[in-house]
Amino acid sequence: MREVAVIGIGQTKVDEHWDKSLRELAGFAVLDAVKDAGLNQVDALYVGNMMSVSANHQAQLGAYIADWVGLRYAESFKLESACSSGAAAFRTALLAVASGAIDTAVAVGVEKMTDSPGAEITAELATAADTDWEITQGVSFVALNALIMRRYMYEYGWTKNDFAPFSINAHANGVHNPHARFRKAITEKQYLDAGMVADPINLMDASPIGDGAAALVMVPLEKIGHSSANPLIKIIGSAAATDSIAVHDRKDPLWLKAAELSSKKAYSQAGLSPQDIDLFELHDAFSIMAALSLEASGFIERGKGPRLGLEGEIRPGGKIPIATRGGLKARGHPVGATGMYQLVEVVEQLRHQAQGSQVENARIGMAQNIGGSGSNIITHILQRV
Ligand code: COA
Repeated sequence: MREVAVIGIGQTKVDEHWDKSLRELAGFAVLDAVKDAGLNQVDALYVGNMMSVSANHQAQLGAYIADWVGLRYAESFKLESACSSGAAAFRTALLAVASGAIDTAVAVGVEKMTDSPGAEITAELATAADTDWEITQGVSFVALNALIMRRYMYEYGWTKNDFAPFSINAHANGVHNPHARFRKAITEKQYLDAGMVADPINLMDASPIGDGAAALVMVPLEKIGHSSANPLIKIIGSAAATDSIAVHDRKDPLWLKAAELSSKKAYSQAGLSPQDIDLFELHDAFSIMAALSLEASGFIERGKGPRLGLEGEIRPGGKIPIATRGGLKARGHPVGATGMYQLVEVVEQLRHQAQGSQVENARIGMAQNIGGSGSNIITHILQRV
């Protein structure tokens, strides 16, 4: 396999983009990434998206977007794995380039959620759970995560207040990200006073829905000349793993086995351990998911996730900075695009372009994208060369 580098990034702001179509959102991110890479053309386009058929009545995203960005006739198709569709597209592009089948590829994640009423989007998000055993019980995604958070608090003795640093850190970092949906810092009081969505998850524990697209261009390392305008960023780990789709089918519903498996594989490919990671763009769709990802990826022992937040270790100057550009909580969570935003943000950090929330001397960054309630997890590690 060839070594692969990321040479271009592009993203739209996460927002309510009522004036842009799905193809325009994706297209602008792709064109920005290709321009940033200093290229005019790429050989293939891979699209990550979850709900274009139900929310936008549009299938065939490969041809739909490729044509709009001037890539008619190129290889292009869509990858879907719920909220980890973005990282699935990135991994597919990576494998295509690494194998030698494709020379230059762009991966884009796109989602347009705010054209539909909230109740419809909630029902569409729930399709990432088990229809027969979870959805038919009327459970939503927030409710599933609330059950997990309640159980976690019971088992390990944490209170609701202990989760506040996850949200406070994400919102503080989002202030500095021009592409973030929410750019306002919050206090602990605002966290505690926020309206309840599904007890114990309140508005400040939940990521917001939104529209957005993010894209990355990759090429084989051997084909990059010395003239590259941006610092070179190499992909040194990429792995994916699945778990049961239904939470109740897991031996331990408080352990993200797929995060453990995919991060261990990625560490092993990179020859690294968690201590070597300078920043971690994790999947904080809900505060409880941030705690569980930190544990399963080896940054702290089981049941102790909130301690990293309470001790200030998740901030840009801490032991393991997370959600450094706002995370899902403040940057926003346009589901199929999220994995690509995480990777774009890792590249911004490794290029030292993350003004206001830059992790000093960042060299190695990790991104972890979770589909469903932990049923499909993809982990990538990138390094500044
Ligand atoms: N965090 C902070 N503020 C939020 C927010 C969030 N998650 N979601 C909405 N808001 C704000 C809006 O900006 C708006 O503010 P304004 O009145 O100042 O304009 C206000 O709250 C109401 O917004 P609205 O869109 O009516 O919220 P809602 O009640 O319809 O939706 C949630 C709130 C939490 C239910 C919705 O964001 C949600 O379902 N999130 C989870 C999505 C999900 O499950 N994703 C998949 C995870 S794997």
